Amino acid sequence: MTAPWTATVLTIFPEMFPGPLGHSLAGKGLREGLWRLLTVDIRDFARDKHRSVDDAPFGGGPGMVMRPDVVDAAVESVPGPGPLIYLSPRGRPLDEARVRELAAGPGLRLLCGRFEGVDERVIEARAMEEVCLGDFVLSGGEPAAILLIDACVRLLPGVVGDAAALEEESFARGLLEYPHYTRPQLWQGRAVPEVLLSGHHEEIRRWREAQAEAATRQRRPDVWERYLARQGRAGS
Ligand SMILES: C[S@@+](CC[C@H](N)C(=O)[O-])C[C@H]1O[C@@H](n2cnc3c(N)ncnc32)[C@H](O)[C@@H]1O
Repeated sequence: MTAPWTATVLTIFPEMFPGPLGHSLAGKGLREGLWRLLTVDIRDFARDKHRSVDDAPFGGGPGMVMRPDVVDAAVESVPGPGPLIYLSPRGRPLDEARVRELAAGPGLRLLCGRFEGVDERVIEARAMEEVCLGDFVLSGGEPAAILLIDACVRLLPGVVGDAAALEEESFARGLLEYPHYTRPQLWQGRAVPEVLLSGHHEEIRRWREAQAEAATRQRRPDVWERYLARQGRAGS
């Protein structure tokens, strides 16, 4: 039997895992063996009795930096599977296309930074892919690792019951998703759009398509431009 999709997290806080990943669909999938989560405690690779993983930055300045020798030894202990990713505000912004590639592979190895980050030399020496979760700074890579794993795991076969739902979602087709409504039909004087009550599947599909396009154009001009370019409709 082949191993399930595996996320290996290198962290100084292994107790943060599975955390939210132990709940709901991801947690159920984990318990059913649809995917696997391993943690490596970077402190186990420290070289002193204080289990230090960080030291002061050369050149001065605030904070501490994770040592390359300690991080490298921790990385060496995890040969695979999957690409080695350092979660970093300096990385390439994560998008659904990269999530889909990662979910289609054997898994991933995630290095969680703390303090001011990781010594640049080990990032280079290990040819780490740097991935950013957004233009903001977290206190550590662990929350970012949890988000990235969650985004991948929900795409794995069997994790989300209705796989068709995944194809409708925001970014799946390069657009934001259309708005959703449920009962009650009238709430605080607000009615559900008439077309959704019509039972005309083709009209509903067209309405949702138009809503998805309008939301993308208004809310995310960057996503809209990419969508048009892919469709050969740039500038329309
Ligand atoms: C306090 S941050 C370090 C920030 C770094 N000094 C900078 O300004 O780019 C500590 C760790 O949190 C993680 N982190 C913070 N923000 C992140 C983001 N937007 N995406 C991914 N990881 C992030 C990284 O692993 C980073 O090494």
